Amino acid sequence: MPERALRTRDRVRPVGRIAYVDGRYVRHGLASVHIEDRGLQFADSIYEVFGVFGGRIFDEQEHLDRLERSLREIGLALPIERRALQLVVREIARRNRVTEGLIYMQVTRGAVRRDHAVPQQPPRPSLIITAKSIDANGFEDRRRSGIKVITTTDERWARCDIKSTALLPNVLAKTKARDSGAYEAWLVDGNGRVTEGSSTSAWIVDSDGKHVTRDLDNAILPGVTRRILIHVAESAQMPIVERRFTVAEAQAAREAFITAATIGALPVVEIDGKLIGEGRPGPVARRLHELYRHAAEVAAATGDVLQQA
Ligand code: PDD
Repeated sequence: MPERALRTRDRVRPVGRIAYVDGRYVRHGLASVHIEDRGLQFADSIYEVFGVFGGRIFDEQEHLDRLERSLREIGLALPIERRALQLVVREIARRNRVTEGLIYMQVTRGAVRRDHAVPQQPPRPSLIITAKSIDANGFEDRRRSGIKVITTTDERWARCDIKSTALLPNVLAKTKARDSGAYEAWLVDGNGRVTEGSSTSAWIVDSDGKHVTRDLDNAILPGVTRRILIHVAESAQMPIVERRFTVAEAQAAREAFITAATIGALPVVEIDGKLIGEGRPGPVARRLHELYRHAAEVAAATGDVLQQA
């Protein structure tokens, strides 16, 4: 096989073989939307990422709630009924044989002649759903070694609570992290405080032993994993505080970690070259990850915990 074809195949291989686009299950390599789709032209679109554990969608209802909220904020509705969407999500996981992985879902405002203003006669929204398996071992290695983080200016818009696909600042920040040998970039606001990671929520364990993550407002995404961890931590009497913290405080913290669907809690051992604590993953991140996994396993086993449908 020519090298170019191989590279192309390698690039697309991690995503499952079947995608769902606008009511049809299609081969992933052939799946497409129109070139005038507003998601493509204006990032006029919303997305969600659901974790799959033990063949079940974890915290599906919360992700769907956030999807509906994001859509509402830009004047869109779910393109199909919620119950139907759930059936498609299960079917796409099944067709791609995903037991440990993720579901990606995107709703765009649809295809229409290019014009910035939202058309008064709105097009039919596009709905795209894909699934992929995750290499759980890769995450476990990172969980053992811990990850490095760099910090960079938060250059995003003022509505980061909307999970929109306008992710160019996130893309550039993550690339900067990768190019510096780090796994994640923490974004820093005009007051020197960390908002969140380019695709994860940011946490520290402060000098009082409190588990700190930024309070919610328009500047960050309300992470579903963040919310689950707050819930399970409080149930386990672990001290949670939602407040802002500076880069200097994070560098002096006992521990730091990031959270997101599919990765749970991943320990941070270095921020901008400064070791966190003793430069090794700490007990809080480990414990929180265990609690998260336990919640996911219970949900997978019973189908009912944490509002599993
Ligand atoms: N990212 N903050 C940002 C900016 C994110 O993009 C994400 C998720 C999170 C964590 O949210 P949750 O716990 O609901 O996954 C926080 C997804 C995984 C992504 O963009 O691929």
